[in-house]
Amino acid sequence: MEKVIGIDLGTFNSCVSVVEGGTPVVIANRGGYKVTPSMVAVTEAGKRLVGHIAKRQAVTNAENTVYAAKRLIGRKWDSPQVKNALATAPYHIVEGPHGDCRLELRDKVYSIPEVSAMILQEMKMIAEDYLGVEVPKAVVTVPAYFNDGQRQATKDAGAIAGLDVIRIINEPTAAALAYGFGKNIDRTVAVYDLGGGTFDISVLEISSTGVFKVISTAGDTFLGGEDFDQRIIDWLVQGFQEEHDIDLRQDRMALQRLKDAAEKAKCELSAVIETEVNLPFIISSARNDALHLQRVLTRAQFEDLTGDLVQRTAQICEMTLDEAGLEKDEIEDVILVGGMTRMPQVQRSVSEFFEREPCKGVHPDEVVALGASIQGAALVDDSPEMDMVLLDVTPHTLGIMVVGGYFEELIHQNTTVPTSRTQTFTTVRDNQTAVKILVLQGESRRADENELLGEFVLTGLRKAKTGEVELDVTFEINADGIVSVHAKNLETGDEQSITVTATSGLTKDEVEEMMEDAHDYAVGRREDEETEKARQEAETLIDEIEKLFPEVEQVVAGSDFGRDAIDKARTVVERARTLIERGDVPGLKEQIDALARTQRMFKGVVGKSG
Ligand SMILES: Nc1ncnc2c1ncn2[C@@H]1O[C@H](COP(=O)(O)OP(=O)(O)OP(=O)(O)O)[C@@H](O)[C@H]1O
Ligand SMILES: [Mg+2]
Repeated sequence: MEKVIGIDLGTFNSCVSVVEGGTPVVIANRGGYKVTPSMVAVTEAGKRLVGHIAKRQAVTNAENTVYAAKRLIGRKWDSPQVKNALATAPYHIVEGPHGDCRLELRDKVYSIPEVSAMILQEMKMIAEDYLGVEVPKAVVTVPAYFNDGQRQATKDAGAIAGLDVIRIINEPTAAALAYGFGKNIDRTVAVYDLGGGTFDISVLEISSTGVFKVISTAGDTFLGGEDFDQRIIDWLVQGFQEEHDIDLRQDRMALQRLKDAAEKAKCELSAVIETEVNLPFIISSARNDALHLQRVLTRAQFEDLTGDLVQRTAQICEMTLDEAGLEKDEIEDVILVGGMTRMPQVQRSVSEFFEREPCKGVHPDEVVALGASIQGAALVDDSPEMDMVLLDVTPHTLGIMVVGGYFEELIHQNTTVPTSRTQTFTTVRDNQTAVKILVLQGESRRADENELLGEFVLTGLRKAKTGEVELDVTFEINADGIVSVHAKNLETGDEQSITVTATSGLTKDEVEEMMEDAHDYAVGRREDEETEKARQEAETLIDEIEKLFPEVEQVVAGSDFGRDAIDKARTVVERARTLIERGDVPGLKEQIDALARTQRMFKGVVGKSG
């Protein structure tokens, strides 16, 4: 059976899973960790680092270490989210060629999907190391509240990473899938997912027939652990400024240290009620004295600093229930997902809101990846255990701009996907030969307050009187939540199919070029790994042979034949050393055989003597 991996591409952490023998399992990385930090860095020597090794060097290489790239994916350069990141991130965000934003690491500029692709590629390799085969297919999760542009960009990231993303699914839906899988339950559940960067809430009906139906979903793609950290950072910076009149934000290294310390303090406050932030030598004063930062933060203070954030999640829960047409007491299970749900105040707020204790036994860091792999297996496996149906919804209303700058709704939010809607357009002027359509997503009545997905122009219309030429335009949202548009000229029957490429998206050529780069990297890295493996193997054998030399020499000293064998052995070892130096992997692999033979022979000689 073909394997499909499930990847939870998180803002903070990523996780990969696969279904084995009907059970989803999380795959640990080489360090033995089940989650990998979604961090990418480029070292001074130009080497790419991903995951834990990137995280470990973040403080000393802050400018060239990217975290939370997911907050920028599919975002436009002039969006408030990018402005916010510009003000707080220690790495360089620059304007891209399509009104998008890009990242400058060392002397190279990367698109956001390219950076996400590095993380996806890492997750792919973790899975391949474990499974021992190539795994080209994946299901990748996104926050339920991601719009079309963010979904497209995530798909691009998958393609760049060399993955065939057979489905994009929503994170809370994936969590519900993992929760309900194999349980044979009929239940209405709410999934509350507060992660590093985003907040999602989804209400679903799980049925024992294997149908997982999302009723409504809502969220905020800019509300998560990062914002809680930022509140602590602001508090620390402000205190320091009052005391020393120095703005720590001006120093990238200090900023990265503050960020680490803030996050650490936040996590500690989930377990204890008071913690000390201690950052010696954080900066130098104008008179060149080393200054230290030392402050105690209590849980109560922290809850004060972030109370409004938790409150906002409760408001969004309220909205979702309204949209679902459900009362709180109709929710039978509340599932907590995301690292931030370890915060006591969050747990308290959720229990108070839903008037029930959240379910235990769901691993908040792993459940999304598990759900993704279940969905992956279900898509390729016809066996009855994998028989399930996932019905998700579109999180945003889809529509177009009409006269007066208004937004005309075509597909309402929370409509089950895939779905489509056909609308007939007519010309509004005499002799009009083209019609321009602006496609948007959002809930505002005003078009410009919604997210512009793209615009397209239908051309080549017959010159005629107003209203004579009619066009049928079909708007479609597929199971990935991605929008496409087809138009049909009713007179001529001519069809035009338009993919609504996000105005900030990458072109096909760009994606292909990035794919090649990523592929070269993967090949290079596999080669490096192979070299390293061969080197280690050869060195182990050389060590063993070297240790045996004196004894072997003693045993065979008397015979010419023995001396010959020893000389030969020396040549074999010397040659292996040369090949290691040259990094000649094919040569070394052959030489490993010779080394192994020599080692066996030596062992035999010594064994006989002993
Ligand atoms: N014990 C804890 N107490 C409080 N917060 C925690 C704790 N452990 C982890 N976190 C926070 O949880 C966040 C990471 O959660 P998670 O790994 O679920 O995010 P993610 O899946 O990467 O992000 P997203 O789903 O938003 O894209 C971080 O902000 C981290 O600081
Ligand atoms: Mg998450």
